[in-house]
Amino acid sequence: MKIKVQDITMFYEDRGQGLPILFIHGYPLNHKVWQPQIDGLSDIARIIAPDLRGHGESQATQGEYSMDLLADDCAALLDVIPISQKIVLCGLSMGGYVSLAFIRKYASRLAGLILTATRAAADSSDAKENRLKSINKVKNEGIEPIITGMLPNLLSPHTLSSNPALVAQVREIMQSVSPQGYIGDLMGMKNRPDSTPLLPKINIPTLLIFGDEDQIIPLEEAKSMHSLIPASQLAIIPGAAHLLQLEKPTEFNDIVRNFIIKNFL
Ligand code: MLT
Repeated sequence: MKIKVQDITMFYEDRGQGLPILFIHGYPLNHKVWQPQIDGLSDIARIIAPDLRGHGESQATQGEYSMDLLADDCAALLDVIPISQKIVLCGLSMGGYVSLAFIRKYASRLAGLILTATRAAADSSDAKENRLKSINKVKNEGIEPIITGMLPNLLSPHTLSSNPALVAQVREIMQSVSPQGYIGDLMGMKNRPDSTPLLPKINIPTLLIFGDEDQIIPLEEAKSMHSLIPASQLAIIPGAAHLLQLEKPTEFNDIVRNFIIKNFL
């Protein structure tokens, strides 16, 4: 479905009824990384999964996509759909950074939180430097070198060698993001603030889900967030990497289902 949200046309999937769960994808991806959750969880909840600006079928704009801007887009999407009841927010990686910005701005709209393969800390100076190099690469060579460099880190070695269809699907998703989308995300992630001081103030049921083979965000980040968020639960999926919800959909969905049933139904 497409709808006018702030200054863009935004695409989103909307399936199921009841408690709304807003799924926010990471960089450089789109809502299709949530297909197993759209298919597998819409019997117990209303699954809303947008393409962030510049990704998939949502309109791109020039300039930085700050985490606040992306969170504002998500809040505005809820306004125009419209969804007034409290939601559960589920953010993957950069989607987790957006979720933390959303909490800072719109805490009263949230009933619960799911953070997956993400971190609260800001970029280190090395990471900032790498973002700038990636921005220049996109400007000079396009998005393909970024995709080729990043794809092997998104999935586990086992998935990479045994599931070529999933590898091809992830590549296609990464190709759906416009160059402005890559640059906007990279600038936004580079400049995002440290959200660690926010963690002890999160007072809603929170679930952290991580894969133990994630090369991009190590498990230590999960453990540190778990120790700082009071009402949090940590689930670790063995044999899964950064895109754990695609690699291990049954395990991921069971964990989310139990969290939803226990806390909200
Ligand atoms: C993502 O998956 O959203 C990104 O890899 C996160 C990041 O680069 O920090």
